This record gives sequence, structure tokens and C-alpha cells, in this order.
Amino acid sequence: MSIKPVLKMGEPLLLEVAKKVDQFNTPELNALIQDMQDTMAALDGAGLAAPQIGISLQVVIFGFKENQRYPDADEVPFTILINPVLTPLSEDMEDGWEGCLSVPGLRAIVPRYSQLRYQGFDQYGNAIDRRVDGFHARVVQHECDHLQGILYPMRIKDFRTFGFNEALLPEQSVVDE
Ligand code: NI
Repeated sequence: MSIKPVLKMGEPLLLEVAKKVDQFNTPELNALIQDMQDTMAALDGAGLAAPQIGISLQVVIFGFKENQRYPDADEVPFTILINPVLTPLSEDMEDGWEGCLSVPGLRAIVPRYSQLRYQGFDQYGNAIDRRVDGFHARVVQHECDHLQGILYPMRIKDFRTFGFNEALLPEQSVVDE
């Protein structure tokens, strides 16, 4: 398949609420997911939502292997998640650095629920139901926000933390998407 251009903040489609997928394992859906995987891999992202490549459907992918660039982040299994439903498991919020392929070159500290249940489907329509915390919970919240037309800068509480990667201190580790 192919690597697609990633829409940048300012594109109206990124602010739309994405439509639910109503048929699984179709050639169109499988091609979309392949394009998302190719695009995420090419950009070395930890996740990607379909609207970011211009398709307003409730499809996200994410996954992350531990590596030296992001020493503080735990591994997250590669996951295709469709029509997600998120339920926080407590009111606890946790601050952490985030970046986004649609907001290149920047990052900020964003509060997220620290424990979360997420439900949805894989591309074949098999149910997914997981309880997660830490970085896994953060990535899911970031990606699923894209399906509601929300970009991480809308979640920033302390704008003094919002800045360009090269200007922020190196120990302020971040994961793009
Ligand atoms: Ni993003």
C-alpha cells in the first residue's frame, strides 16, 4: 500500500467527529489500515488516527517498542482499534509529554486519565476490551481524541510547557503521537 501525507493542525477535517465503521474486514477498511501502518512506520510514530490521513472514520492504530529515544515510556502492544469506547477507571490524572504527527516539531505536557478501560473492535470485528494505565492509557486517549476532533494542544493546562522540540530540554522526553 502506501505512505500517506499527514494532515496538519488547521485542516478542518481534523476537527470533525469521525464516523463509525459499520462493516469489518472489507477491502477498503483493510487498505486504510495498511496505509495507516505504512504511514506510522515511515514517520516512526507511536500511533495514528484515520482522520490524520484524511479519512474521517473511527479507526486508530498504536504500538510502541521501548527504545533509547523514549527511555521513560513502557512498551505498548501493536493494536488496531475501531469504534472505541473509553471509560476512565478513576478520576486520577497524570501529566506527561506529548507530541503529534499533525503538530510537527512541538510538544507539551498534557494531563490524561491514568487508568482506563477501552473497548472496541479489531479490523475483523473481534471485540477488544482492555484495562490499561501509564503510557498505554495516554496513547489511547491521544489517538481516540483525534476521532472526536480534539488535538492535544486543546488539552494543555500549562502553556509554558508548550514548545519546539529543539528548544525544550533533552530530558523532557516525548513520544510523537
Ligand atoms: Ni496525534
